[in-house]
Amino acid sequence: MKRRLPDVFYNTTSLIGMTIFGISFCMIVFLFILDSFSRTGSPYLGLITFIALPGVMLFGLFVALVGLYRAVRRKRRGEEAKRLPTIDFNESKQRFAFLMFLFGGLGLMLVSGFGSYQAYEYTESVKFCGETCHNVMKPEYVAYQHSPHAKVKCAECHIGAGTDWYVRSKISGSYQVYSTLFNKYSRPIETPVANLRPARETCEHCHWPDHFYSQKLKDRKYFLSDPENTEAQISMLMKIGGVQQGASEGIHAHMYIENEISYVSTDRQRQIIPYVESKDKNGKVTVYRSTELKATDEDLKKGERRIVDCIDCHNRPSHQYRPPEVTLNQALARNLIDRSIPEIKMTAKDALEKPYKTEAEAIATIRADILKYYQDNYKDQFATLQPKLVTAIAQVQEIYRTNYFPEMKVSWKGYPSNLDHVHSLGCFRCHDDKHVSPEGKVLTKNCQTCHTILSQVPPGGKRETNVEGLAFKHPVDIGDAWQTGLCMDCHGPQKDE
Ligand code: HEC
Ligand code: HEC
Ligand code: HEC
Ligand code: HEC
Ligand code: HEC
Ligand code: HEC
Repeated sequence: MKRRLPDVFYNTTSLIGMTIFGISFCMIVFLFILDSFSRTGSPYLGLITFIALPGVMLFGLFVALVGLYRAVRRKRRGEEAKRLPTIDFNESKQRFAFLMFLFGGLGLMLVSGFGSYQAYEYTESVKFCGETCHNVMKPEYVAYQHSPHAKVKCAECHIGAGTDWYVRSKISGSYQVYSTLFNKYSRPIETPVANLRPARETCEHCHWPDHFYSQKLKDRKYFLSDPENTEAQISMLMKIGGVQQGASEGIHAHMYIENEISYVSTDRQRQIIPYVESKDKNGKVTVYRSTELKATDEDLKKGERRIVDCIDCHNRPSHQYRPPEVTLNQALARNLIDRSIPEIKMTAKDALEKPYKTEAEAIATIRADILKYYQDNYKDQFATLQPKLVTAIAQVQEIYRTNYFPEMKVSWKGYPSNLDHVHSLGCFRCHDDKHVSPEGKVLTKNCQTCHTILSQVPPGGKRETNVEGLAFKHPVDIGDAWQTGLCMDCHGPQKDE
């Protein structure tokens, strides 16, 4: 064979090094192509392609250079550089040694590739994100475990497939490691996530709202904060349709399937929205401006502009910190908390909502407070109430553990859900009857727009049913305050909190 390089390159060590280098280089190219073409590719492929294999490649290069260095030194010392070993395939021993080397080497490559893949998979696993590294993320992790997405990996929403987002997430991840190590992270962790991957690229791997049709039934039971914990009920159909055969059906049609809606918000949490724009299929633009939130053109320029996607409504698909009204209603409805305990809704709510510094303090105080309340106010019945109270207290403590995280200053008050309008502004950020276009179109707050009340039971009253839809009756008499004001004024976090 004609030699194209100086003799010093042809030493055994350098050749082994160059072989390692060459194989890993080819594998990188191969995996990179594979990853670019697969839409649903594993978010983990990146580690092999970009971290493990380059490491092997550099090692090969290093070995080659060591060989080269040694060969040069030998030559300088006047020794004749060692020739390459001659392999004689007619000799069975040599043939065997060669095959051993070949398959052994290949096996080793496979095993180390597999090993680093596994190691990587672990660093991206839910357990690792939630427990090992991101202790800070206890609130997100605990809430996640109680969400409908408890079996979806963190990385599937936060990173998704493909290499570019993988690299981006690792860059921002490095900063997160730094801020955790040096205790620089903010409490609570800021929301919304500043540069979350566009939801269409993550959520839509599993959901396809274009093809939603029919409606979704919500059956709710409510309990008042009165001595009897009086029950009320509402059943309603949420109009969740997308676009079926060209006809728009409901909520999911309005966001981007039929129209492209964009908005400007002037606060960090995207709750204050003075400006909304809707572009229909033909490109016709309608601008809605709030008559209440006075924002100058200057303010609008400074604000954040966004095109509505899933996250603008479903911002808590996985990390739900629920208000006490919701959690307690659910526990009472399922009889996890005994409804026959007088005033239990009110006492439990007060116990949950007290400001605590640590979880341990909260757990202890919830128990002490509730027991004391019944000892003081229900002395005669206390003996019969006590066993029911013990179960109820355990439930309230569990609600606390899964929805409040005082060490990280996390609760429903700082993390408003946009898929709501009772406990946070939610849909009413835009649909408040106050966003008006120059042509006089209004973003309506009409109660039939998004859901139809099929049946309701007022507290202590009889069930009314009408499949055409009923007019909402507020469970307690507050006049027309629920029509003139926002539900959130009374049901949301109170101003001093
Ligand atoms: C179903 C998709 C989904 C899954 C699974 C998921 N997240 Fe999230 N996560 C989100 C969304 C959506 C947000 C809020 C984004 C926004 O409002 O900008 C978020 C926000 C966060 C935040 C910022 C604080 C906050 O609550 O807004 C952290 C931290 C976080 N997630 C960590 C995790 C961890 C750790 C896991 C796995 C244990 C995980 N996430 C799993 C969708 C998901
Ligand atoms: C890996 C697949 C996967 C991804 C990615 C995913 N989801 Fe889901 N999602 C599911 C599954 C499975 C369910 C059904 C869970 C159940 O009913 O128990 C679900 C349920 C839901 C529900 C209904 C919850 C309820 O209360 O009934 C909503 C809303 C939802 N997802 C929104 C989202 C949004 C928004 C995103 C993106 C941030 C997202 N999903 C990302 C798989 C996924
Ligand atoms: C304009 C607000 C809005 C936007 C934008 C939006 N959704 Fe929804 N979505 C809703 C509402 C409201 C419901 C019904 C309420 C509920 O289930 O709690 C719903 C329900 C769902 C459900 C549950 C359906 C069922 O049958 O149980 C899924 C899944 C879902 N949305 C996924 C998505 C995905 C994925 C996107 C982005 C492509 C998206 N949504 C965008 C408002 C929205
Ligand atoms: C960023 C502002 C904004 C938010 C937030 C928003 N919407 Fe809308 N919505 C609009 C606009 C703009 C339109 C009207 C589109 C047009 O011009 O036709 C609309 C229209 C609708 C319609 C169709 C109304 C009709 O008269 O046909 C439904 C249903 C709807 N929205 C549901 C919701 C729900 C449910 C939520 C909360 C989960 C929500 N929207 C949150 C901006 C918003
Ligand atoms: C723009 C769409 C929209 C409009 C308009 C609207 N709602 Fe809602 N409503 C929703 C959504 C979304 C939810 C949340 C569903 C859920 O909790 O899963 C909701 C939930 C509710 C609930 C249940 C709350 C709970 O915590 O169980 C009641 C009651 C309700 N709405 C009443 C009204 C009344 C009364 C009006 C008229 C003043 C109204 N809604 C107008 C979208 C709307
Ligand atoms: C002026 C204050 C005020 C406004 C505005 C208001 N509510 Fe209420 N609401 C109350 C009070 C007070 C109760 C009784 C609470 C209790 O007994 O625990 C109540 C109870 C309820 C309940 C049953 C209790 C529960 O646990 O959820 C529902 C459902 C409800 N309101 C829905 C709404 C909706 C929907 C709106 C907006 C359309 C609204 N409210 C606006 C004051 C208000």
